[in-house]
Order: sequence, then structure tokens, then C-alpha cells
Amino acid sequence: MRMSTLIVAGTIAAAPTVHAQDIQRGRQFALEVCAACHGVLAGQVQSPVAEAPSFEAVAATPGMTAVALNVWLTAQDHPTMPNIVLSQTDVQDVSAYILSLGE
Ligand code: HEC
Repeated sequence: MRMSTLIVAGTIAAAPTVHAQDIQRGRQFALEVCAACHGVLAGQVQSPVAEAPSFEAVAATPGMTAVALNVWLTAQDHPTMPNIVLSQTDVQDVSAYILSLGE
């Protein structure tokens, strides 16, 4: 019993399931938190802060994955956003949204 629970949890961690509502939440979150610096909407190529890549550009980066975004967003070296603390759910949702721009 305990064994099968572990296997299920492991599977979820390895391949997170993306739901449409996660993308919606991520979009909302991006508009509230990230849009001060990043172009966050589809078709918005210009970011308010010139050094910050638009999310569409991030999504178009070859090899960009949820794992890569997760690392980036939970590392402390996102230079200009030291005060933004993202929960794991926020990271997942906003990553799902960013990646959806590349589809
Ligand atoms: C205060 C401004 C600011 C805010 C707010 C901000 N960012 Fe950034 N972000 C930047 C800058 C500037 C860079 C470019 C840094 C660099 O390349 O060294 C960056 C880079 C990134 C990158 C890396 C892109 C790449 O391919 O290198 C990602 C991903 C990212 N931001 C996501 C987010 C998300 C998601 C949010 C909202 C939770 C957010 N940022 C909020 C300024 C900001």
C-alpha cells in the first residue's frame, strides 16, 4: 500500500500534469506579479524592463522546460526580484502559462 503511494507520487513529480486552470492561474499571476518587468502576454514582444525577456521569448528558447523554469524561478539569482517569493504552486502555474505561449 505504502509502496504504491510512493510510486504514484514519484510519477507525478517526474511528469507534472498540466491542467487548463493552472495555465489560467499562471496567466493571472504573471499579470499581477511579473508584468511590471516582463512582457507576459502572447504577442507582447516588448518588456517594460528592456533586459527582461518577454515570456513569449522565454517560451521560444530552445530546450526550455518546466524543470528549467522551476530552477530559474526558485533560485535566488533572478536578479531584480529579490522580494518575490513564489510558492511551488505559483511556480508550476506560471511555468505552465509561460510554456503554453510556446505552443
Ligand atoms: C523587477 C523586475 C522583474 C520582475 C518583477 C520579474 N522579473 Fe523575471 N527577469 C527580470 C530581468 C531583468 C531578467 C533578465 C535577467 C538576466 O538575463 O540576467 C529576468 C529573467 C527572467 C527569466 C529568465 C529568462 C531567460 O531565458 O533567461 C525568467 C524565466 C523570468 N524572468 C521569469 C519571471 C517570472 C515568472 C516573474 C513573475 C513571477 C518575473 N520574472 C518577475 C526582471 C524581473
